[in-house]
Formats: sequence, structure tokens, C-alpha cells
Amino acid sequence: MNTPRHDIYAFIHKGLRAFMAHTLLHAGRVDAGDPADVAELREQCDALLDICASHLHHENEVIHTAIEARSPGASGRIADEHVEHQEAIARLRALLHLIPGDADAARQLYVELAAFVAHNYEHMAYEEGTHNAALWATHSDDEIRSLEHRIVSSHPPEKMQVALRWMLPHMNPAERAQMLGGMRAGAPREAFEGVLALVRPLLGGRDWRKLADALAL
Ligand SMILES: [Fe+2]
Repeated sequence: MNTPRHDIYAFIHKGLRAFMAHTLLHAGRVDAGDPADVAELREQCDALLDICASHLHHENEVIHTAIEARSPGASGRIADEHVEHQEAIARLRALLHLIPGDADAARQLYVELAAFVAHNYEHMAYEEGTHNAALWATHSDDEIRSLEHRIVSSHPPEKMQVALRWMLPHMNPAERAQMLGGMRAGAPREAFEGVLALVRPLLGGRDWRKLADALAL
């Protein structure tokens, strides 16, 4: 069996899909007349839109630059879609401000967020297919890992926490063990233990036991 190529999108896209789905469901059940409920939804939506905006920025700056350097034109479609996503993010942020006390604005947010999520799911599948193919044809796995390292190391700790909170519970046990094993090898002990404490309550018992076994905790 051939060794699979390194997929730069795999983990972050699993996290984004989960975060988007969870936020959309929250938007669908929000009570526009309950300030605490609205505040929770706004906080979650803001965090989602922040991570979407920074994700597409990093894809543009790092991944598209690498693709274009060796396959000119290959990232054009997705670059155009990123402009549409930035516009959608701005519209969703404006709608969020209108929700308190306004059930109609809440309904509109739900519908527009659903369209944004639907579009992003297709967009990410295209990146994982066509962009990965372009990267794999022109870059070694070590080169792709170094692009990923550039993106990951540019994240401040609080942004990293949000990404990990959504990625780690929603990847499979082997991926989770691989990611946390890498972290244990490369990050300070307190940082590794902080991530374990973050993820433990978010995992079911079976997934936690598999992780503990894999890491010999
Ligand atoms: Fe993208």
C-alpha cells in the first residue's frame, strides 16, 4: 500500500466543519428574546467568523502562494471564493448585531449562516481534492509540512486554543494520537498538559481511553 501524502487541510477542515455545524444548530434554536442565549450565540458566531477569516487569510498567503509559484492559475477559483466568503462574513457580523429582541433578524442569520456553511463545505471539499492534487504534484511532503508549520506557528495561543477545541474532538483516534504525540514531543510540558485538560471533557470515554492508551498516559 502506498503511504498517503500529507494532507495540509485534513485536521483544520475537520475542526471547521464541526464548528460550523455546531454554530448553525445553535443559531437555529436561539431565543432572540433571551439576552443570555443571544450573548452565547454571538460569542460563538464571532469566534467562528474570526477563525474562518484567519483561515482563508492563511490559505491565501501561504498555500495559494505556494501553488501559484509552481502551477500558475491553479488557485484562481478558490481565491475568488475567498473574496465571497469575506463578504459573507461581514454580512453575518452585521446581522449578529441585529438579533437581540428581533426574531426576524435571528431567522435571517440562521438562513444566511446555513448558506455560508453549505458553500464552505463544498469549498473545502474542492480544496481537499483539487488543491491537494496541485500541491502533491509540485511539492514534497516535507515542503507541505513546512507550509503547515508556517501557518500553525503564526497563531497566537488563544486562537490555537479555539482551533484545537474544535479539531481534536472531531478527528479519529489515530489522528488525535498523532497530533497530541507530536505536541508532546515538540511543545513545553505545561502546554501539552493544558491541551489534554482542554480535550478530555470533550471526548467520550471510549475515545479518551484510546488516546490514553496510545500516549501511554
Ligand atoms: Fe479556503
